[in-house]
Amino acid sequence: MFSLKGKVVIVTGGASGIGLAISQTFAKQGAFVHILELNEDLAQQVAADIIKNGGLAQAHVVNVADQAQVRKVVDAIATLGPINILVNNAGIAHIGKAHTTSEEDMDKIYQVNIKGVYNCLNVTLPHMIGAGGGVILNMASIAATVGLVDRFAYSAAKGAVYSMTLSVARDYLDQNIRCNSISPARVHTPFVDGFLKKNYPGKEAEMFEKLSKTQPIGRMAKPDEIGALALYLCSDEAGFVTGCDYLIDGGFEKLNT
Ligand SMILES: NC(=O)c1ccc[n+]([C@@H]2O[C@H](COP(=O)([O-])OP(=O)(O)OC[C@H]3O[C@@H](n4cnc5c(N)ncnc54)[C@H](O)[C@@H]3O)[C@@H](O)[C@H]2O)c1
Repeated sequence: MFSLKGKVVIVTGGASGIGLAISQTFAKQGAFVHILELNEDLAQQVAADIIKNGGLAQAHVVNVADQAQVRKVVDAIATLGPINILVNNAGIAHIGKAHTTSEEDMDKIYQVNIKGVYNCLNVTLPHMIGAGGGVILNMASIAATVGLVDRFAYSAAKGAVYSMTLSVARDYLDQNIRCNSISPARVHTPFVDGFLKKNYPGKEAEMFEKLSKTQPIGRMAKPDEIGALALYLCSDEAGFVTGCDYLIDGGFEKLNT
């Protein structure tokens, strides 16, 4: 079950945290993983590690916010054969309320977390249509559907990811393309560590504990746990699943009573 043997996969932001877990899990299941990353050194290292472990991977330096860069790389990958799976995972964090979020920060979050997803969809979908189908998985967040403190821009962007998921799932039903999203609560990744360092200097351990406890299950998720759900949703076994957002939140949304 859940074999990805022979599948070609694109994972954006695939060299760190959740994306890294997805790249490694998918490669272990037999996929050829193309990592589209801003961080060249990390991406090369991850691809080399996957190859060392007997898998197939290639690193590509891409800023998902730049459509020309995305197009160049995705079109080149498509010349080698069909692209079966696209995982739109790259994303950045932001803290602020509507009145404390600068125009510059709002634009940046839009460029990466919304336009980055659109760019990859816009460029990859024609290849999937031409190949007779495909699977798309978008990384949303509980922030898409819950009112979180100080997450104005981030929540707006993840709400857009959620809506884009439904829109794409509907528009490409007849082209045999499935599209779903995952909405994690906190996952322990460099994204969280960086966020704590930047926003709570000197209080990282205390805040880590506090953030862990906001999940009723008492901890943050591990990246591999998100990778396992991603594997299911992108596998042939999930052939009946489309237009769905999957909470993976340690009870955050339904059990915080
Ligand atoms: N960690 C969490 O608690 C959490 C919770 C819910 C959702 N998410 C979402 O999961 C995704 C991954 O988060 P993570 O925690 O693994 O983050 P991370 O910071 O560990 O990894 C993100 C990766 O994306 C890459 N990246 C950033 N901007 C990019 C760009 N413009 N182009 C290409 N690559 C870019 C970074 O280089 C990095 O390797 C994000 O979309 C995030 O919003 C994370």
